[in-house]
Amino acid sequence: MTSSQWSDLDRPPLRGAQLERAVLRPGGLWTSLRVVAETGSTNSDLVARAAEGAEAGTVLVAEEQTAGRGRLERSWSAPARSGIFLSMLLRPSAPKERWGWLPLLVGVSAASALSQVAGVEVRLKWPNDLLVQVGGEERKLGGILAELAGDAVVVGIGLNVSLREDELPVPAAGSLLLAGAAVTDRETLLRALLRTFDELYTDWAGADGEPEASGLRAAYAAQCATLGRQVRVELPGGRELLGEAVAVDGDGRLVVRDSAGEERAVGAGDVLHVRPQQR
Ligand code: BTN
Repeated sequence: MTSSQWSDLDRPPLRGAQLERAVLRPGGLWTSLRVVAETGSTNSDLVARAAEGAEAGTVLVAEEQTAGRGRLERSWSAPARSGIFLSMLLRPSAPKERWGWLPLLVGVSAASALSQVAGVEVRLKWPNDLLVQVGGEERKLGGILAELAGDAVVVGIGLNVSLREDELPVPAAGSLLLAGAAVTDRETLLRALLRTFDELYTDWAGADGEPEASGLRAAYAAQCATLGRQVRVELPGGRELLGEAVAVDGDGRLVVRDSAGEERAVGAGDVLHVRPQQR
């Protein structure tokens, strides 16, 4: 449902032209940035535009999505202007087998940018859910959805910024507001996120997508709250894997050691942190 632009003064609209001017710079990664009041899904829009030849570096931001999509065929919904809902279109020159690192790179960028600008610790649950602490509990702040579109990749990110407790889609969700962030201005957060991604992507592309040489694997491990934890991984097909998350391998897969000491690398699935983190 579309609500009036002025129905919630805590949620001012984004100023698309100002944002575009702030984000686009000569020699930078971003080539266009558009803010729309409403769309079905920014990811679906950019996947369609990729097929029409849209330029790498295209960014689409929506104030509201009516058919937002998440990983594992889930939906993503949030009230208008309560968060950041954006997709970016990339055409990496790195070998395709390394493109799996892209959503992890977006996660690292978002966690770094938000931790720095909003002043709250943002960490990653493998593969790339963004987590914050709310009242001593680990809650999901946002998520990332990457989709192949021919010779392009569309990566979407959804972030809960000003969601209040009574608006949470599920109790395990959180928001920057609920985590006590010092900054919840979406334009400031968006600019920081896109600038940080540009820097890290440039390093990654410069190393031909190699996760070791670009420092991406180390940066990911440093931000990843899953490593060292007991996890339950719900694998595609309904199977489960229990054990300790011990590493992220060169392909971005999570390595889980079971109680018999056997190690398995998992490329897709839903991870649950089964015991709270020891601090
Ligand atoms: C997840 O946590 O499962 C991923 C959620 C990704 C949501 C974002 S919002 C912007 C972009 N457009 C979509 O339809 N999905 C992503």
